[in-house]
Amino acid sequence: MGKIAIVYGTSTGVTEDIAKRIQKLFDNADVYDAAKVKTEQLEPYDYYIFGASTTGFGELQDDWANLLPQVAKMDLSKKTVALFGLGDSASYSTSFVGGLSQIYDELKDKTKIVGAVSTDGYDFEESDAVVDGKFVGLPLDEDNEADKTEDRLSAWVSELKKDFK
Ligand SMILES: Cc1cc2nc3c(=O)[nH]c(=O)nc-3n(C[C@H](O)[C@H](O)[C@H](O)COP(=O)(O)O)c2cc1C
Repeated sequence: MGKIAIVYGTSTGVTEDIAKRIQKLFDNADVYDAAKVKTEQLEPYDYYIFGASTTGFGELQDDWANLLPQVAKMDLSKKTVALFGLGDSASYSTSFVGGLSQIYDELKDKTKIVGAVSTDGYDFEESDAVVDGKFVGLPLDEDNEADKTEDRLSAWVSELKKDFK
């Protein structure tokens, strides 16, 4: 498997913590902060895992929102991308992990996006991150369902290991 770049966008550190947990589940992944990374640093990678929290009402975390237009200009045609998103399904049940949909919509015609996740087991009303009945990436809710995160991460990473080759 080629090398993986994990790029997180965080406001209070939750997404950063998850990015580092995902890194430990691979043996060939580097982690970057969306607030600091340059696209030249990302170009050498074959695989990307982009993670961001949702803010406002279904809005993409600010640092990722700033980085996204630059990532969209990269040549991602031979690359593979997976997405994960942090949200709060109790307080923001009608915009759960909506920020993920902004990364997905911007990149979906430019690259191969893998790692869609069934909505089974999630308790929410609406999410822009659901496309054709599945989440476009892995939603995680550390505010209400932190006890489910370990199993969700390991199941998702097992799938990614099949897709990332
Ligand atoms: C002002 C504010 C707005 C939020 N809006 C949403 C939202 O629309 N949808 C959602 O799922 N979570 C929302 N959240 C919850 C955060 O995404 C969640 O707490 C996340 O774990 C924060 O991760 P971070 O520290 O990496 O930014 C919001 C949180 C705050 C403080």
